[in-house]
Amino acid sequence: MRDRVETADRAGTPGDLLLAWYDRHAREMPWRVGPAERRAGIRPDPYRVWLSEVMLQQTTVAAVRGYFQRFTARWPDVAALAAARDEDVMAEWAGLGYYARARNLLRCAREVAARGGFPATRDALLTLPGIGPYTAAAIASIAWDEAAVVVDGNVERVMARLFAVETPLPDARPELTALAARLTPRQRPGDHAQAVMDLGATICTPKSPACGICPLRTPCAARARGLAAELPRKRAKPAKPVRAGVVWALLTPRGWLMERRPARGLLGGMPGFPGDGWDGAGGPAPAEADWREAGAFRHTFTHFHLDLRVLAAFGEANPLRGEIMPGLDPQSLPTLMRKAHDLAAAALSSR
Ligand code: ADE
Repeated sequence: MRDRVETADRAGTPGDLLLAWYDRHAREMPWRVGPAERRAGIRPDPYRVWLSEVMLQQTTVAAVRGYFQRFTARWPDVAALAAARDEDVMAEWAGLGYYARARNLLRCAREVAARGGFPATRDALLTLPGIGPYTAAAIASIAWDEAAVVVDGNVERVMARLFAVETPLPDARPELTALAARLTPRQRPGDHAQAVMDLGATICTPKSPACGICPLRTPCAARARGLAAELPRKRAKPAKPVRAGVVWALLTPRGWLMERRPARGLLGGMPGFPGDGWDGAGGPAPAEADWREAGAFRHTFTHFHLDLRVLAAFGEANPLRGEIMPGLDPQSLPTLMRKAHDLAAAALSSR
């Protein structure tokens, strides 16, 4: 009898409620070993965990799925990725954004291959290029079941609500991390971390949390005070500046005139049309040509909005800069340049 009472009590802690919910509702993901498989002794592949976590930074699960499947079909393990050509990896990454991640991904793959495999603790993972505290903790937790404290935006939101933390972000970060640490169990820490992420993505969502079906509705302090949708509070951010720019899309008989952008900086290492220096890396129009207005659009980067004008022309290959890329696949361009390409191609195909 006494045992039963104790079991019932324990089953009511937020950590247990979360794991019980995850056992029933874990989302299926191509890199994930679900709770049932995990119980059957199947271990996640650290390569797939690492790759998915790097891709998921700043990007949604829905956007990452296809990229993850193409990457792992082409490079099934870290040794294969380490041996890939830089341009091939950048082309597969195109559209995911934050291109420094792709360059770091390759550096990291080469380092891991040289070391003979992924290190097996959070602290050792932190010594790899491009792996910060979040990614190191996520890999250690999910791949190795280390009770590392995994804190991303989902986790911060769930903690802020569960414990009704009203301090705005980013000041609340240390407190939210401490709360996340307190909640992290020694048993099944990897499933726990993924459970909090799934809860944040599907129920404890930023705008209208579905508190009525939340496994944490009973212990949730924000719900008790009617505050859930208001938390976490955020300090007002300065508005993003707007910059204006131009790109020149010159179509020659052998293909588009493009240039590979400098390895460091915005869209670093990616191909693109020559531009006028909205990012400090431009120059004059690359040819004398009969330029047409192909259109304009706004693209938002992390730190500014860019209003980009696209000029397009047919021309001979006598470029001042850049190179011709025959058979260019627009899918291998970063999104900004793919949009510019589509406008230019449309402008040149309508007379
Ligand atoms: N977001 C980032 N990593 C994730 C994971 N492993 N599961 C669910 N959502 C995530």
